[in-house]
Amino acid sequence: MVNLSESTQTKITEHKTVLVTGGAGYIGSHTVLELLEQGYDVVVVDNLCNSQIESLNRVQEITKRQLFFYEASINDADRLHAIFQQHTIDAVIHFAGLKAVKESISQPLEYYKTNVEGTRTLLEVMVHHGCNNIVFSSSATVYGNVDSPTIKEDHPVGPINPYGQTKLTAEYLIHDVCTAHPNFNAALLRYFNPIGAHASGLIGEDPTSPPNNLLPCVTRAMIHRDQPLRVFGTSYNTRDGTAVRDFIHVVDLAQGHLAALRKLFKGAPGCVVYNMGNGRGYSVKEIISKMENVTGVSVPRIDADPRPGDAVSVIADPSLAFEQLQWQPKLGVDEMCRSAWKWQSQNPQGYRLKGKDMPKKLQHRPHQHFSSFPSRH
Ligand code: NAD
Ligand code: WQD
Repeated sequence: MVNLSESTQTKITEHKTVLVTGGAGYIGSHTVLELLEQGYDVVVVDNLCNSQIESLNRVQEITKRQLFFYEASINDADRLHAIFQQHTIDAVIHFAGLKAVKESISQPLEYYKTNVEGTRTLLEVMVHHGCNNIVFSSSATVYGNVDSPTIKEDHPVGPINPYGQTKLTAEYLIHDVCTAHPNFNAALLRYFNPIGAHASGLIGEDPTSPPNNLLPCVTRAMIHRDQPLRVFGTSYNTRDGTAVRDFIHVVDLAQGHLAALRKLFKGAPGCVVYNMGNGRGYSVKEIISKMENVTGVSVPRIDADPRPGDAVSVIADPSLAFEQLQWQPKLGVDEMCRSAWKWQSQNPQGYRLKGKDMPKKLQHRPHQHFSSFPSRH
């Protein structure tokens, strides 16, 4: 823990400061990195329920900058108030949430508590402290059953599982706060399928429970070769029979958040919704082939029945974000696969490395990398 000095106090108020909830997680850590590289001061609030503090150690190592970290829940209003008293927060990027569709069916109360009640608590604290800008992690899952080749933001919504319901409810909540408080601005970003990792191979996706998403399952099968990837559905009406998704590199997505922030800082857009995707679909089999081509490593796999509730093809129309945010993804599927494999092969146990297994440059690092402050209540 580092005590505040006069000079640190000045720095906190002079620069734009962004509070990132869920900043230790997969997309959060990549976005914190981009924020630090662009000169923002960053305060992270994360309860580490699905992440490791090591992700942020590594972000600091890559950027050679410090951030402020609080291990706290977004459901804890007292802690949030204390953090907003401690820092002048110009905007919030709100990633904190639970995201496993299957788990949301068996544990809806947990999902509503974190994704809806946690968001409500955060908004209440923001309004109280006059912090008027939020970028929210929403999901293409809010569209539910998709009936068009590409999806625009005005496509009907209709989530088909509790996770999707909580994301849509949080969107409505934020929208209603914008209506009630005309100075309050929000960008609701509906992500399609984020994959890949930072080019350094030092940060990436590291779920604490067995993964469900395609890419972590692909790389896991490449490492644990006796546990083949199950290809869910091979007779869909697509070019090769497997499902099609719009994959977006996590670094492009992170940069999309900075573009949305700039939009909020520039004017008062109210509540705006953007799809975050490439506008191009790849099938499961195409992703497997890409992965094999760029890595030279085969992906052990078996055909399996379709996964219940899966859509055949989900592709964004991201033109609104391209036009209004002056943002466009730059990294293609080759780079998505290459970086995902670099991360996974260099970190087969994710962030859970210890002692002699840890890459040399990460050993013996001081613990004072984080500045953190006691809460004031
Ligand atoms: P992640 O699980 O890696 O990150 C979420 C972070 O939130 C974790 O670090 C977790 O510890 C933290 N968290 C959870 N509950 C919290 C709480 N109550 N208080 C504080 N921190 C809490 O997930 P991710 O893939 O980085 O996703 C980030 C956001 O993007 C989530 O809201 C998710 O719903 C959304 N999203 C993700 C995807 C995807 O495919 N990864 C797609 C669409 C939307
Ligand atoms: C993609 C395709 C699978 C794993 C989910 C959530 C959605 C959003 C993104 C957060 C599907 C197939 C997968 C495997 C496979 N998350 N697959 N074998 O289903 O588009 O969306 O993540 O908001 O809410 O529902 O992504 O990566 O799970 O699956 O064949 O081991 O890969 O069946 O066709 P999806 P995904």
